[in-house]
Amino acid sequence: MSGVTVVDHPLVARHLSVLRDRATPSSDFRRRLSDISMLLLFEALRDLRVREDRIDTPLEQTGGMRLADEIVVIAILRAGLGMTDGALRLIPEARVGHLGLYRDEESLQPVGYYESVPDHATDAEVVVVDPMLATGGSAVAAFDRLKRDVAGRMRFVCLVAAPEGLQAMQEAHPDVPIWCATVDRQLDERGYIRPGLGDAGDRIFGTE
Ligand code: PRP
Ligand code: URA
Repeated sequence: MSGVTVVDHPLVARHLSVLRDRATPSSDFRRRLSDISMLLLFEALRDLRVREDRIDTPLEQTGGMRLADEIVVIAILRAGLGMTDGALRLIPEARVGHLGLYRDEESLQPVGYYESVPDHATDAEVVVVDPMLATGGSAVAAFDRLKRDVAGRMRFVCLVAAPEGLQAMQEAHPDVPIWCATVDRQLDERGYIRPGLGDAGDRIFGTE
């Protein structure tokens, strides 16, 4: 599918295997999710624009670079919180926004309950993070919301994508490129990704 990059790397595959394992406790799950998020974001941000800079080393002046654009990371709550620490380790100067969305268990439709998006995010590189892209309802709603107020180049980084969610994003937001660690087989009748890793929010926060 165009605009979708599955990050193919042995370390990504190993972290994903541990995250899928039901025996992995929340403490390890959080650490692994943070680490794999760094690897995914590293790939997703490969084309960031840079500006030349001059640097004084202890010995002489030399050429350096700085990021040309502001980076804004938007976490879809709750599970996106599990990716923000990794994002900030990679890009310490990034600003972070939050969109609170949960899926209604019956309708599987996203319900918004909170939003805090950095002001003046014009000309920014906007990266939305959420480990799971299932029906795509939450991601589509997040980009619908962001495009109302935020100007800038947008991208979506998730961990596990379902074909149904990729299709929904392709239809609603074909301009948003997507990076993930895997495209899984399908959604089940309850809207869970199979084989997946279960409920990402519950696994991060130990709420089941
Ligand atoms: C999960 C996940 C996504 C959403 C994906 O959140 O973190 O936001 O489901 O499903 P969709 O593609 O069908 O919308 P959930 O609604 O479980 O809330 P939580 O993160 O608070 O647990
Ligand atoms: N949200 C999750 O956390 N997991 C799924 O499998 C689907 C939606």
